[in-house]
Amino acid sequence: MRTQVCIIGGGPSGLLLGQLLHRQGIETVILERKTKDYVLGRIRAGILERGTVGLMREAGVGARMDRECFVHDGTVISYGDDQFRIDFTEHTGSHVVVYGQTEMTRDLYEAREAVGALIVYEAEGVTIHGADSDAAHVTYVKDGTEHRIDCDFIAGCDGFHGVSRQAIPLSTRREYEKIYPFGWLGVLSETPPVHEELIYAGSERGFALCSMRNANLSRYYIQCSLSDSPSDWTDAAFWQELKRRIPGEHADALVTGPTIEKSIAPLRSFVTEPMRWGRLFLCGDAAHIVPPTGAKGLNTAASDVHYLYTGLTQHYQGDDEGLERYSERALARVWKAERFSWSMTNLLHRYPDMSPFDIKMQQADVAFLRSNTQAQSVLAQNYIGLPY
Ligand code: APR
Ligand code: PHB
Repeated sequence: MRTQVCIIGGGPSGLLLGQLLHRQGIETVILERKTKDYVLGRIRAGILERGTVGLMREAGVGARMDRECFVHDGTVISYGDDQFRIDFTEHTGSHVVVYGQTEMTRDLYEAREAVGALIVYEAEGVTIHGADSDAAHVTYVKDGTEHRIDCDFIAGCDGFHGVSRQAIPLSTRREYEKIYPFGWLGVLSETPPVHEELIYAGSERGFALCSMRNANLSRYYIQCSLSDSPSDWTDAAFWQELKRRIPGEHADALVTGPTIEKSIAPLRSFVTEPMRWGRLFLCGDAAHIVPPTGAKGLNTAASDVHYLYTGLTQHYQGDDEGLERYSERALARVWKAERFSWSMTNLLHRYPDMSPFDIKMQQADVAFLRSNTQAQSVLAQNYIGLPY
C-alpha cells in the first residue's frame, strides 16, 4: 500500500492531524494498536484552549463541540480556606471550554469514517523503516499477516509508550525528565459539579482539583501517594479527603455519590528533542508529557498538530520551510507549556520532603498571585493557551 502520510497512533493527535490533512487533500493511513472502543474508553482531560477549539473547527468537526461545550471565563485557586478567582476574560479577552477528550476523539472518529479514510485497528508490531532515507515505510501485522505501507512522511502520534520515539537513534535524541513523588487519584461521578468553574486547591493535606464534564457529571482529583492503589480508596474515603482539601464553603456544597470510575495517574514532565528525524515527525505524548495541573497535555498535542499540518500542507505546495522548522517551532511552545505545568504543580502540591521553609515559599507564591494582577494575567495567558 502507498500513502502520503502514515500516521502511527489513533489518539487525539493522530486523528486530528489526519482530519486536517484530509481537508487539504492529503492522503493518510492511521495505524492504531488498540480497538476503537478501547481508545474511547480512556478518560482523559477535559479543557480545550482556544487554539485547540480553532483546530477542531478547521478540521470540520466543531459542530457538536460548539453546541455542547461549556465556556469557562475563569478559574478558582484556593489554598486552605482562602480562595480567589483568576479572570481569563479580563486578562486575555479569551476563555477555555470544557469538552471531554473522549468526546473530541469520538467526533474525530466519526468524521474519519464519514470520509472513508483508512484506520487500521489492532495493528500489531508497527515498525518504522528508512525514516532517514528517501524510502520511508512502515510495516505492521494485522490478523497474522504482515503489511507494508510506503509513504512520503511518518507522523509518530503513538503516545508516550509508542514505538516512534524509539525509532530515533539514541545518538540523535536527548530526553529530559522529571518524575514527581506523588500521583493523582481521579474519580468520575454522576453528580452536579460543586462549582460552576474549576477549583485548583492547595492545602496542608495536598492538592485537589474539582472539574467537570457536564451539568451532571463531575471529575474530581486528589493528590495521592505513588504507593496507593485505587482499591485502597473507598468512595467515602475519597469524598472525605476531597472535602478536607477545598474551602469549607465548597466542601459544604459538594454533592457526593457513587463513583463510576476511579484511577491513579503518576505525574511526569518529559520532553524529547528533536521532534523530527528525517521523514519521521513526533506529535503529542510521543514527544512530551506534562503533569495534568493546568490541562496542557491535550492542548500541547494540538499545537504540535498545528505546526505539522501546516508544514505538510506547505510541503505539498512546494515550500519546505514549515517541515524544516517543525521541531524548533513545536519545541519552543512545548517548553513553555512544560514550565507552566511544572509551576502550577509546584504552587499547589505538597511534596513529601518539603521543609517548613519550602512551605513558606509556596504560601508566599500563592499570596503574591492572589494580590498581583500581573501575576494573575501571566497565569491566565498560559491557561487559555499561548499563541501558535
Ligand atoms: N502502534 C500503533 N498505535 C500505537 C502504538 C503502536 N506501537 N503505541 C501506542 N499507540 C496508540 C495508542 O493506543 C493510542 O491510541 O497511539 C495512541 C496515542 O494516543 P495518546 O496516548 O492519547 O496520545 P496523543 O494522541 O498524543 O494525545 C495527547 O495528551 O495529555 C494527554 O490526555 C492527553 O491523551 C492526550 C494526549
Ligand atoms: C479534567 O477535567 O480532567 C482536568 C481539568 C483540568 C486539569 C486536569 C484535568 O488541569
